[in-house]
Amino acid sequence: MEIFKISFGVYEFFVLSLTLLLISTINYYHKYYTRKNPLPAPFPLPFIGHLFHGSFYGNDFCEYLQFMQSKYGDIYERWYGNKRVIFVSKLEYVEKLLSASTKSKYLIRDSNPEGLKDLGTYGEGILLNNNVNKWKYNRQFLTQAILTSNFLKESVDHTQAIFNEMEECWRIGLKDNTIIDFTEWSHSLTTDIIFQLITGKKMWTIVSNILNISSEPKLIELQKSNEKIISESSEISKAFQKYIMGSNSFLYVPRWVRNFVPSFRAAQREVFEAQSFLYEKLNEIIRERRKEIENTPRDEKLRYDMLTLLITANTDRSISDVKDNQEFTKPLSDKDVLYLIIEALGGGIDTTANVFSFAIYYLAHNLNNKNRMIQEIDDLFGQNQNRPITYDDLSQLIYCEAVIKEVLRMMTTVPFVGRVSTETDSIDNLEWEAGTCYVIYTPGIHLNKNYWNEPEKFDADRFIDVDDQKKHGKNHLIMWGGGLRQCPGRKLAMIELKCMLALMFRNWDVELADMNSPVKYNVSIVRSAKDLKVKIKPRSRK
Ligand code: HEM
Repeated sequence: MEIFKISFGVYEFFVLSLTLLLISTINYYHKYYTRKNPLPAPFPLPFIGHLFHGSFYGNDFCEYLQFMQSKYGDIYERWYGNKRVIFVSKLEYVEKLLSASTKSKYLIRDSNPEGLKDLGTYGEGILLNNNVNKWKYNRQFLTQAILTSNFLKESVDHTQAIFNEMEECWRIGLKDNTIIDFTEWSHSLTTDIIFQLITGKKMWTIVSNILNISSEPKLIELQKSNEKIISESSEISKAFQKYIMGSNSFLYVPRWVRNFVPSFRAAQREVFEAQSFLYEKLNEIIRERRKEIENTPRDEKLRYDMLTLLITANTDRSISDVKDNQEFTKPLSDKDVLYLIIEALGGGIDTTANVFSFAIYYLAHNLNNKNRMIQEIDDLFGQNQNRPITYDDLSQLIYCEAVIKEVLRMMTTVPFVGRVSTETDSIDNLEWEAGTCYVIYTPGIHLNKNYWNEPEKFDADRFIDVDDQKKHGKNHLIMWGGGLRQCPGRKLAMIELKCMLALMFRNWDVELADMNSPVKYNVSIVRSAKDLKVKIKPRSRK
């Protein structure tokens, strides 16, 4: 009987582990070699695929993808563990993936349900919501609020009021040779604008920037008399950044890593803390506003912030002039409002701030474009450079708009647009099964010499010349994505950006501290400008 006794020692454990490893590796490569429609790519490593391929490029994932495109063409694959993702900058694919048809097979994005469930946002909001009915419902409310004409007009007044506060800080605190990091200012500017426009609540992060570099008595006085709002704004803004940046890791890092690897565990705890602080603050704002609306007499006008538009949508107090969607007639719950507010803040703050910073960089390097834009602004405001900008003025800032488009082409702020197919489909004569994950790498189209004349050259004039515009197909410039999931905030973003450029260049001279420094940025979901050192002084008119 002794003969049948199995002993399990170190050696056996080693052999078993090796066997399991071998079987898994064979499995991994079996899947790889039998995949449908193999596309060019570097050879993937077992289990991790191409996860660390390109780490040489550090934070510049865009430069890495530019290299991949030059080596493998406009369509290639990348493996994330054992998941294949198709990277495309090929128009035949883009056409299908960004189809605006209601029958589109590409209405969802690749998301990580496990991570979203842990975060408590699974099936909520818009951007990462793959429950198509709930996504449609939420998106309709956001669009209805954001396209209300009084809201858009309000956004112009509002942008100016906050820009004026920033100018006041500059006038008091900046000396002739003070060098500032423009990215910090533009971020604070859009935080204050978007937060108030969305929630109706005053936010004041901008003033902290000047307090960090100047101790002018007037500023100290200002700080003392506004201590509460300054510190509360800074707390909310920090929590918001921590939450938005940190929640990205819930999309990519597996649950077991977040729960058991100490550094990830600590980072996860911080995200939860920021989230609960933020939810508490925003819920308080929502409750207060509901009460205020209830207590406002019916014949009194309600203000046009997004929160008010969301709370009153589909009720007899609705202030939207966009027709109610017949499909959804129920008002929103407080929970739905909370997620939509977070979505609008998340969509609106970083994106516009970065475009503004990149515009400052490119205009400083392209004086023909800058002078032409300033001429347009001067012509519009004539002798009265300080008069308030109106909503109607913006339609005349055609060159400004061309500059913004060119900045978004050269330095696309959201460089990846993801889609997952819900049905089998044939594209470019290949059949792809349901569940295929795609990433449209938009700079691969925006900087492609097949679609653009001298794509590496910054030249806003390309959007002015009508003939040149006709040359561009509908998917050559897709900075807002496309189809039914196209960015719903694009009109608001354009209004704000035009307004900020006009306000900046009609009264201020901006000079880069180092003209030899290349444009600097980090890439995650958004491409974020960093370290843009400038000198700013009041504009001298001849
Ligand atoms: C310069 C500024 C902006 C840029 C470059 C930008 C870009 C984008 C892009 C590329 C997408 C993905 C679209 C797609 O998948 O087809 C997107 C989605 C989205 N954006 Fe923006 N955006 C900007 C500003 C805003 C603003 C101001 C808001 C809201 C106030 C906003 C809210 C959203 C939302 C909610 C989505 C998700 C749409 C959906 O999944 O249905 N964005 N944005």
